[in-house]
Amino acid sequence: MTYDLPKATTLITFQLSTCRLRPWREGDEESLSKHASNRRIWNNVRDFFPYPYTPRDAHSWVRSNKSQQMPNNLAIDVDGQAVGNVGFTVKDDIYRYNAEIGYWLGEDYWGRGIMSEAVPIMTNYIFRNFQVNRIFACVLEQNIGSMKVLEAAGYRHEAIHRKAAVKNNQYLDEHIFAMLREEHIDLTGLPRS
Ligand SMILES: CC(C)(COP(=O)(O)OP(=O)(O)OC[C@H]1O[C@@H](n2cnc3c(N)ncnc32)[C@H](O)[C@@H]1OP(=O)(O)O)[C@@H](O)C(=O)NCCC(=O)NCCS
Repeated sequence: MTYDLPKATTLITFQLSTCRLRPWREGDEESLSKHASNRRIWNNVRDFFPYPYTPRDAHSWVRSNKSQQMPNNLAIDVDGQAVGNVGFTVKDDIYRYNAEIGYWLGEDYWGRGIMSEAVPIMTNYIFRNFQVNRIFACVLEQNIGSMKVLEAAGYRHEAIHRKAAVKNNQYLDEHIFAMLREEHIDLTGLPRS
C-alpha cells in the first residue's frame, strides 16, 4: 500500500490492494453515470442521490468535487475507471465537530472487499486532516453489507432510530454507527505524515 502525502503540488491518492482512491477529475463523468445509475444503489442512499444518474448529474458532481487540495470526496478507481465514491460532510452549529461518512460502489464491484478497505482509509484521512471529533454513518435497516463494513472498520453501533427514514414510501429504521477520535485505531498501516 502506498500513500502520497498531500503536499501543495501533490494530489492525494491512496493505492489499496483492491482499488485506488483519488480525486474526482474531468473524464470521470461517463463512468460515473454508468455505475451510479442503479436502483439498488439508490435504495440504500439519500433521495438526493440521483436516479437515474444522468450525464448532467455526473458533470455537476465532477465540477464541484475536482481540483480540491484536500477533497471531501474521493473517487474509487478500478483499472482507471471511477466506479464509486467515499466521502464525508462536516456538520454545523453544535454538531460542527461531526463528520458524516458516506459511500457507494458500482454493483459490478460489490463483494470484492473494496469498501472494507476504503472506509478505514477515509476514516484515517478525516481524523488526520480535519478538525473532527466524531465520524458517523446512517445505514438503512436492510443494508447488512454497509453495517459489516462499518463494524469491521471499528465503528460502534450506537443507535437505531426507529422508522426515521422513508424510502420507496416505506418507513425504515436507521442504524447509527459512530467512531470518536479517541477510539480511532489506525488500521491502514500508512506512515504518519
Ligand atoms: C454496501 C456497499 C458499500 C458494500 O461495499 P462492498 O465493497 O461490496 O463491501 P465488501 O465487499 O467490503 O463487503 C463487506 C462485508 O459485507 C458483506 N456484504 C456485502 N454485501 C452484502 C449484502 N448485500 N448482504 C450481506 N452481506 C454483504 C461481505 O460479505 C463482507 O462481509 P465479511 O467482511 O464478513 O466478508 C455496496 O454494496 C454499495 O455500494 N451498496 C449501495 C450503496 C450503499 O449501500 N451505500 C452505503 C449507504 S450507508
